[in-house]
Amino acid sequence: MIGSGNGNCVSITGLGTAVPERVMTNHELSEIVDTSDEWIVSRTGIRERHVAGPDEALSDFCLPAAREALARAGVRAEDLDLLVVATVTPDMAFPATAALVADRLGAKQAGAYDLSAGCTGFVYALAHSYAMLAVGFGRRALVIGADLISKVVNWSDRSTCVVFGDGAGAVVLERVDRGGFLGFELGADGSGGMELYLAAGGSRKPATLETVAAGDHFARMNGREVFKFATRVLVSSAQELLDEVGLTVDDVDVYVPHQANVRIIDHAAERLGIPKEKVVVNVDRYGNTSSGSIPLALADAEKEGRLGEGSIVLMTGMGAGLTWGSSVMEWTSMNGVAA
Ligand code: ACO
Repeated sequence: MIGSGNGNCVSITGLGTAVPERVMTNHELSEIVDTSDEWIVSRTGIRERHVAGPDEALSDFCLPAAREALARAGVRAEDLDLLVVATVTPDMAFPATAALVADRLGAKQAGAYDLSAGCTGFVYALAHSYAMLAVGFGRRALVIGADLISKVVNWSDRSTCVVFGDGAGAVVLERVDRGGFLGFELGADGSGGMELYLAAGGSRKPATLETVAAGDHFARMNGREVFKFATRVLVSSAQELLDEVGLTVDDVDVYVPHQANVRIIDHAAERLGIPKEKVVVNVDRYGNTSSGSIPLALADAEKEGRLGEGSIVLMTGMGAGLTWGSSVMEWTSMNGVAA
């Protein structure tokens, strides 16, 4: 689907992040599996990632990220109408992590649900929440993109364990006077679903001793196929969306692609014609944090002073599903809330 909304302005008015304290370097990984810093850096651009501890769960990172975003927006948790957590690694299958986070925040008026769209989850959740606020169904939403992929990775499979990391990012969305989201493009191709999947624990293959023995509780990925898919959709999704909203790549000031692999990012930026200085890259420090990736990169861009009032920000995600999604927005200074 593609669309540019109903003209009502909704923007990001608060931003927050949280990552586990523990940093794991490529060198440490090379002591666990047959790999090297040289291989990981040259094939992915990743140098280190944050990894959650055995007692930590997703909501433990959603919560501080949410608190920071709410504080920056000047919004009280009890005034939230909607709380969405985009993730494929919730605390548990149900209840939704969003409901647990809402409870811990004291967001008693908020509808709260989790959204599963792989690494594209954050962009999907932005689109949903934007649409609800734009039609007047609620005034304040909290959108969290977060994953602890380290919890579902096979730490003896070098083709997956080196690429992922853990992290959370949260944004507050509110109606504003001008600017904000200009449009979204979302897509899914389930025929590629088995290129990146976690087999056991659902209704198709409930968890048993046998599924655990077979390692079916770990994420499996066909890296080469996902790579080809990623390079294709990062370009096509962004181009279609820019056409839809009447912008060109030259209008884009800041490009925030999903942080999976620096080679994928470089390829997409080059094909789109976006110069390097406009591209946000932090995959070297975080790895692929799945739904956390785009909000973490957005927060880095903001800290570095790269997001000015009126900057055109293009975000594109892709991941399990297979799914993809783009969002383009005109950045507004935080706290630019409509009266
Ligand atoms: N260290 C050393 N060698 C390795 C490693 C490793 N960590 N991993 C694989 N290799 C070897 C392979 O065994 C293979 O050896 P062979 O040629 O002897 O068979 C060789 O390196 C090349 O393997 P490829 O899989 O072709 O390596 P590639 O260059 O494709 O890099 C990677 C692999 C990094 C996984 C890449 O394919 C990739 O980034 N794919 C996209 C992943 C992605 O974007 N995921 C996003 C979605 S995530 C989500 O939705 C949750």
